Amino acid sequence: MNYTRLKQDLYREYEKKFPRSREINTRACRSMVDGGSHAIRLLKPFPPRITKAGGAFIYDEDGHGILDFWQGHHANILGHNPDLVTGVLADAFLHGSGLQTGFTDALQAETAELLAGRTGAEKVRFTTSGALATMYAVLLARAYTGRTLVMKIGGGWHGAQPWGLKGVEYHHDGDLFQHVDSAGLSPLTKEEVLVIPFNDTDSLKRTMEKYGDDIACFIMEPFIGAGGFFPVSGEFIGQARSLTEKYGTVLILDEVISGFRFCAGSVSKLYGVQPDLATLGKIVGGGMPLSAVAGRSEIMKLAGSEGNHRVKFSGGTYSAHPASLLAAGTMIRYLIDHEDEIYPAIGTLGEDLRRRVERCLAEEGLYACCTGYGNDAVQLSSLAMLFFPHEEGRIITLPWEARDPAVCDTELGNEILQISMLLEGVHVFHGLGSLSTAHTEDHLDTLEQALRLFARRVLSYR
Ligand SMILES: Cc1ncc(COP(=O)(O)O)c(C=O)c1O
Repeated sequence: MNYTRLKQDLYREYEKKFPRSREINTRACRSMVDGGSHAIRLLKPFPPRITKAGGAFIYDEDGHGILDFWQGHHANILGHNPDLVTGVLADAFLHGSGLQTGFTDALQAETAELLAGRTGAEKVRFTTSGALATMYAVLLARAYTGRTLVMKIGGGWHGAQPWGLKGVEYHHDGDLFQHVDSAGLSPLTKEEVLVIPFNDTDSLKRTMEKYGDDIACFIMEPFIGAGGFFPVSGEFIGQARSLTEKYGTVLILDEVISGFRFCAGSVSKLYGVQPDLATLGKIVGGGMPLSAVAGRSEIMKLAGSEGNHRVKFSGGTYSAHPASLLAAGTMIRYLIDHEDEIYPAIGTLGEDLRRRVERCLAEEGLYACCTGYGNDAVQLSSLAMLFFPHEEGRIITLPWEARDPAVCDTELGNEILQISMLLEGVHVFHGLGSLSTAHTEDHLDTLEQALRLFARRVLSYR
């Protein structure tokens, strides 16, 4: 369908509703590339400029309160700016602590112990972003094995680091995520990074049989995030564990999204799988920039004196920053102590959200498929993405299906949905987002109402 007229009208209405954000955007574009620092935040025609946030809401320069399902790239599991974390940070700042970066402290040890206990890891090292954590994990694996090949899942996002930038974006030419996604990388990237399809055990076996002796690591998410919010099958992750063991390949489970999202620890535990290395970020930082690699001593030690510092998992002016660790320790302890309340609550709300969204759109005459549902291992999911398959009744279960414009109406599911929802006071991302403990049934009512208006608007242009 041609959405030119709908988009023109949406943009016109949006520009009228967000004049101050528009003004700031014009200014930002003079000094910043595209007016910002993170491509996916820079929606068209311009993003709302946010001034503050609390719980389920963000507030913008034009004075709107917007119900938010993006929640800090899914990091803010207790909602925006929870008193729990802002309170300890404010107190620390008031008493002369928080910005003395460049040292080490008790907080690091305490937080590492918590993470090790909750992930089954022997050693933990902190850094500042998920991308750095996955990059260091790959370096460790390559040094440990003496091999160069890195295997990943098509559609899997592990942050902008050299071995994560192949097979992320979908190109509609039938090669299923075999492209290198960034300029400026080593020309060897295409050969060094092998990309296999999600949940395809046969392909996993074939690739391991062919290249296993040369593969340093297999990096995968147990619940794929940007790839579409699908849980890995028990069979696939089980085979991933046994085949990597058989071939001496390091299994890296990237839990930057899934860690502490479905339970107070790593989701791999729910599958009964112990990786060699796990990467954590987002939720564990408590809203502050913190990430970690957690894993087997034998591999982790390559970063330290016992391993002659062979892997430069080091540096980082702001690594293990005291304010980040204060937030992280506070958050992790709280999630552990309240695990039995939090995860059933947000998981049940998530189930309700997914079903309601699908139902209300169907009632309006728009077929949509929500992802984010759990499986036998991950029963309580608070994640949701929304897709609009062209074929009514089609269920989306794989990253390529989610991204292929021939399968799903990707223009409708991304920019049109996002702008339409903002006009109704709701912020969704990748079609929907994640729930926090700040979300309630009332917020689902608001979401449902906004989606109904979106559907009516779209259908009136058909
Ligand atoms: C699974 C996964 N790994 C790694 C990253 C990168 O994390 P960061 O954005 O903190 O660099 C992300 C970010 O969304 C992610 O979803």
